[in-house]
Amino acid sequence: MAIQRIASKWEKTVILRQNELIRPYIPDTRKYSAEHLGEMLNTYGVVFIKPDCGTYGIGVMSAELWHNELDAGAGHQYKLRHGIQTELFSSLEELHASISSHIGKRLYLIQTGIRMLTFRRSKFDIRALVQKTPLKTWETTGFIGRLAAPQKIITNYRGGGTIMTIESLFAPHLTPRQFTSVYKEMKVLGVRVAAQLARRFPNLKEIGLDLAIDEQHRIWILEVNTLPALFPFKHLTDKEIYKKIRRYAVHYGRLKSKK
Ligand SMILES: Nc1ncnc2c1ncn2[C@@H]1O[C@H](COP(=O)(O)OP(=O)(O)O)[C@@H](O)[C@H]1O
Ligand SMILES: [Mg+2]
Repeated sequence: MAIQRIASKWEKTVILRQNELIRPYIPDTRKYSAEHLGEMLNTYGVVFIKPDCGTYGIGVMSAELWHNELDAGAGHQYKLRHGIQTELFSSLEELHASISSHIGKRLYLIQTGIRMLTFRRSKFDIRALVQKTPLKTWETTGFIGRLAAPQKIITNYRGGGTIMTIESLFAPHLTPRQFTSVYKEMKVLGVRVAAQLARRFPNLKEIGLDLAIDEQHRIWILEVNTLPALFPFKHLTDKEIYKKIRRYAVHYGRLKSKK
């Protein structure tokens, strides 16, 4: 039987929210509408808007309430970012009209914008790989950090992001003890998320979690990928990690054995 893949971010979010141990890690996520845009901007200040079935960061936008400090009389404005472009709007209606022109008739989601930790002034997030082991249990087998290109709102490798180790990205922010605690929490979360999705999709074998860490060191699940790239883990200095990832992937039929 083929390995299970699930494209819809909305469908995965609904399943994950059913688990109360996972729910606190999921940012407020809704289907995009003008009403949700207004409400969520008021509540969170920054929101991300993305295609329900997107990949590689394509089509991802962010919108935020923007106070022009040089022109106090201007009141607040709305800033829309996508790619490396930034547009300013003076009303919510204009902002929504512009977002709608990008969306067309497709389903998009709107989500709390997480204020991610930065490294050399660029944002970074974490990709965690979780795999079915030959013993049929779930294991978080690897982590890589992804640093956004300067000025970019996405960290995806295909969007110009740089792959780094999580140890180097966290070093300026966390003490070794804090690092261990965040690391363990991410490992456990990965296994829980895989197990929860597998209740609905028993033929799931692997997932990639995009995790953001905010300034309070809280972990957030940005999305769960069911066709995660394996090649970035090849570059980790600990070669045993990729060997294991490969061995598991051969076992469940994603990769062919070299022999
Ligand atoms: N809620 C959010 N807050 C902050 N950044 C986000 C948020 N959602 C997405 N991003 C940024 O956009 C990137 C792409 O979004 P993601 O949901 O992973 O979609 P894709 O399937 O295109 O990878 C993320 O890796 C992250 O850098
Ligand atoms: Mg992603």
